[in-house]
Amino acid sequence: MPELIQSAILGWGSYLPERVLTNHDFEKMVDTSDEWITTRTGISERRIAADGQATSDLAVEAAQKALECAKCPPEDVDTIIVATVTPDTMLPSTACRVQSTIGANNAGAFDVSAACSGFIYGLKLARGLVASGINKRVLVIGSEVLSRFTDYKDRASCILFGDGAGAVLVGPGNGRGEILYTDCGADGSGADMMIVPAGGSRLPATERTVGDRMHYIRVRGRAVFKFAVNKMVECVHNALAACGYRADDVSLIVPHQVNTRILSAAADRLHIPMDRMYCNIDRCGNTSAASVPIALDEAARNGRLKPGNLLVLVAFGGGLTWGSSLVRW
Ligand code: UT7
Repeated sequence: MPELIQSAILGWGSYLPERVLTNHDFEKMVDTSDEWITTRTGISERRIAADGQATSDLAVEAAQKALECAKCPPEDVDTIIVATVTPDTMLPSTACRVQSTIGANNAGAFDVSAACSGFIYGLKLARGLVASGINKRVLVIGSEVLSRFTDYKDRASCILFGDGAGAVLVGPGNGRGEILYTDCGADGSGADMMIVPAGGSRLPATERTVGDRMHYIRVRGRAVFKFAVNKMVECVHNALAACGYRADDVSLIVPHQVNTRILSAAADRLHIPMDRMYCNIDRCGNTSAASVPIALDEAARNGRLKPGNLLVLVAFGGGLTWGSSLVRW
């Protein structure tokens, strides 16, 4: 078997739409309060895509920043992976639209559907493509316009979601950004915990399904809460153990931004102080597959990442799915 090639994150970028939806805006839409949303979720505001702005439009913005950061021309990209559950269209993939808009004329392109864990799934695929020598440059993008799939009459879920995109470029490297570990898992027996019930082959869209609001995301919040805390702790433990590290070695956890209470419960159980858990949920809400790469890009730009830092990226979500990665900055 040929020797595997080490891979690294060579560039990063993110994009948030301009429009801000605050908790006070929700007070005018459903029976809720800023106080309830802030204390139960940690969210104060989230970004919402402009009319006509679709998932690939956000993805393009993030991708171009990641390529610029890595000083990589688009023609050098071999594969584009877009993690999303809110594609522009069912057919074709969002990744193909990104490929053509950025001018990545030599790239293959496809979408990954693993909900909030999608970016980590994409990162694992990218790492494998680079490790095997099949590809030299893989663009991994998490992009979501969840606002188009959010039921703004359901107070339990509508306050959670925001729109945005984040991207990284993965290529050969064993210096800054080296990817030490990636792992992903799934448990489809929990498929109903987060679901868009209609619009697929099981229940095609009809006037009735639209009338019953079945084309929107439904979430069993309390069940997801429990799953998320347990799975996040398990994923971080497993990632560290696999590479011979302990919680003390971790400089920063970059988690899926799901709920401040979930992140703080996991931090407690991991014996990691909250200042080592990157949080932007107060400003971004839950952006599903985009949340980890947006947080990573922010942490890098805010000077939170120093050379040699050990980072844990971790996500969990619909499917059920989960994934984690260790990165040496
Ligand atoms: O990334 C994966 C997707 N994310 C998730 O699935 C989120 C994970 N879950 C959570 O973050 C939390 O479970 C929620 C934030 C969704 C809900 O928080 P909770 O502490 O689990 O609340 P709950 O569902 O147990 O509801 C408590 C009460 C209920 O009223 P009663 O039955 O006690 O009278 C709800 O009807 O809060 C009520 N409630 C609200 N009240 C004001 C639910 N949503 C709202 C709201 N404003 N927006």
